[in-house]
Amino acid sequence: MMSSDRIKYTARRIALLRGHFIHHDRFEPLEARFSLLIEKRLADCEAGRTSEAHGLALSGPSGAGKTSAMVQLMVRSRGWLERSGHEDFSIVSIRVPSPATLKFVGQTLLRALGYQISSERQAWYIWDLVRHHLKERKILFVHLDEAQDLASRGTRHELDSVASMLKTLMTDSEWPVGIILSGTPELEDILNHDSQLARRMDTVHFESLSPVAHGNDVLDLIESYCSKAELAPGSDTLELAHGERLIHAAANQFGLVIELIVAAVEQAYLAGAPRLTRAHFALAYHLRTACDDTFNPFIIPDFVRIDARQVFSREKR
Ligand SMILES: Nc1ncnc2c1ncn2[C@@H]1O[C@H](COP(=O)(O)OP(=O)(O)OP(=O)(O)O)[C@@H](O)[C@H]1O
Ligand SMILES: [Mg+2]
Repeated sequence: MMSSDRIKYTARRIALLRGHFIHHDRFEPLEARFSLLIEKRLADCEAGRTSEAHGLALSGPSGAGKTSAMVQLMVRSRGWLERSGHEDFSIVSIRVPSPATLKFVGQTLLRALGYQISSERQAWYIWDLVRHHLKERKILFVHLDEAQDLASRGTRHELDSVASMLKTLMTDSEWPVGIILSGTPELEDILNHDSQLARRMDTVHFESLSPVAHGNDVLDLIESYCSKAELAPGSDTLELAHGERLIHAAANQFGLVIELIVAAVEQAYLAGAPRLTRAHFALAYHLRTACDDTFNPFIIPDFVRIDARQVFSREKR
């Protein structure tokens, strides 16, 4: 029986590691573009102008790190608004509900604005209230995560009505609101569907990693997590081939690379090991995927033949 102290220690350390946000090179351009959007809106507000708001769409494969980046961006932006004397302005963020009907999206947004409403109400009534509260609360931007669901779940008619509602919010003559969308690349269907909406949106894409181009970056990441975790990196984890294995095992996704590193650190803690080795990665991968050794990219030599996207099926949050 493993001592409960060790389990407790592991859980606490892992929670700290998970709470840490890595400022990868894709975050800065995203933040710079969003800062510009905020500044433009504030400048308009100060000048008493109400020109149309503009928005931003962030797309990338599952596990790329979009939600994490947006959460970080929202926290930093709210902090910045407060520190720069614009504390009466705000940003609201929701995850697109399912089913993503016009009415249900409106209700969810209304709830995020701190207002409950009976579901008996008609969609137009709900959205009238949404627009009223957006103005009252001086909401500059509305962020919708998992925005691809707006395109895939509803019918074509629903897509039309959601797209036109987003456009209406951005072009409101009294209080235009910028729309921020994040989700898998299918969210671009919404933009392709409606050119008037697309014209008002900047797009940012989080590319997949490639084992060849990013092998070394991933080794740096392992080192940095080891130092945060106060573990020595084992020599077999700092070989370029290990970086390539890790990227492959993570289906080329940045966020999944981090999840695997943290899961390997967890195994090292549980084993009471002083250093993080490839064996910890192999075990972490096994626990995540329930694959046996012949399908484990940290064990077999020709790991490229494993289809990590298929086996590394992520739980849906
Ligand atoms: N910059 C980061 N710093 C630290 N951890 C990160 C970072 N980006 C992603 N992660 C980790 O990767 C995991 C997956 O990232 P995230 O949920 O942001 O991906 P996603 O692109 O939103 O995926 P999905 O499309 O499936 O929602 C997160 O739970 C987090 O643990
Ligand atoms: Mg996400």
